[in-house]
Amino acid sequence: MSATPRGIRLKDQVCIVTGAGSQRGIGWATVMKFAHEGARHIYVMDIATGELPGLVATLHERYLDVKVAIVEADATDEDAIKSVCERALEETGRLDVVFANAGGGKGGFSTLVKDMSVDDFMGTLKLNVLSCFLAAKYAPQAMSKFAAFIPRQDLYIVNTCSKAAIISVARNAAEENLILRNGVRVNAVCPGIVRTGLTDLLIPTGNDSASNPTPGAIVRIGLAEGRSILVLPEIANVVCFLASTESSYVIGQSYVVDGGLTAPLPMGKLQTNGP
Ligand SMILES: NC(=O)c1ccc[n+]([C@@H]2O[C@H](COP(=O)([O-])OP(=O)(O)OC[C@H]3O[C@@H](n4cnc5c(N)ncnc54)[C@H](O)[C@@H]3O)[C@@H](O)[C@H]2O)c1
Repeated sequence: MSATPRGIRLKDQVCIVTGAGSQRGIGWATVMKFAHEGARHIYVMDIATGELPGLVATLHERYLDVKVAIVEADATDEDAIKSVCERALEETGRLDVVFANAGGGKGGFSTLVKDMSVDDFMGTLKLNVLSCFLAAKYAPQAMSKFAAFIPRQDLYIVNTCSKAAIISVARNAAEENLILRNGVRVNAVCPGIVRTGLTDLLIPTGNDSASNPTPGAIVRIGLAEGRSILVLPEIANVVCFLASTESSYVIGQSYVVDGGLTAPLPMGKLQTNGP
């Protein structure tokens, strides 16, 4: 990405990205994309901030004009989401984009329903749904123009369930903001399987070029039937499109970005090389 000329899709915009603290994650890649597209100030939030100084250093090295602030907080903490939105507004005078990306699965993705504890089920719902609800609640109050992007779609029940709920949150928040005529847009992004820290255990190594991916590099994982599973920067590209005015007529939608994984559904059968 750094080899391509910088864009202006998010020129001078102020952004918040939650769950940006994993070097191999979707949030991190999206922060890099936002910076590449001219964002002025990016607030990067994560509950685990150990890797974030590396993100700040990379941004300083490549994009001197981009300011970045690390916020160590839980995306399901109401006060934390409220305060980061207010802080962005106070410090910069605006808030343009909130990417409610923090999420995951408690207790492991591959846990069968029969083996899943109530605590893990409720914990996953809380993490994935409440984090998006809070962003949908507080971000519009701080924004004149808004787009929240909410990832969904995983293979296993609790995540599928929680992410389906997120789509409802996005649609309802989109409608509410339309009625309020505040210029705030809400959309959702639904990634397929992306190799990140979250999915290492799901994706077999050795059949792809992604065993040791360069952060931000395009990663394709071969599947039977010539399909490919996925690609970190391509998620960030869609997020960036939805964050920009290029998508001003897109409201309350869910963008599936899965390399064709769900294209054959409900009739098709996709064979993976996986276990
Ligand atoms: N990787 C995939 O295949 C895939 C597919 C569909 C959806 N998603 C969704 O995309 C989002 C990003 O996933 P990823 O694959 O980059 O995962 P990741 O584990 O690489 O990154 C998630 C980040 O969220 C942070 N986080 C977790 N709980 C948090 C909390 N309560 N508050 C703040 N930060 C928190 C983690 O510390 C981590 O840095 C998640 O919502 C995930 O459910 C991922």
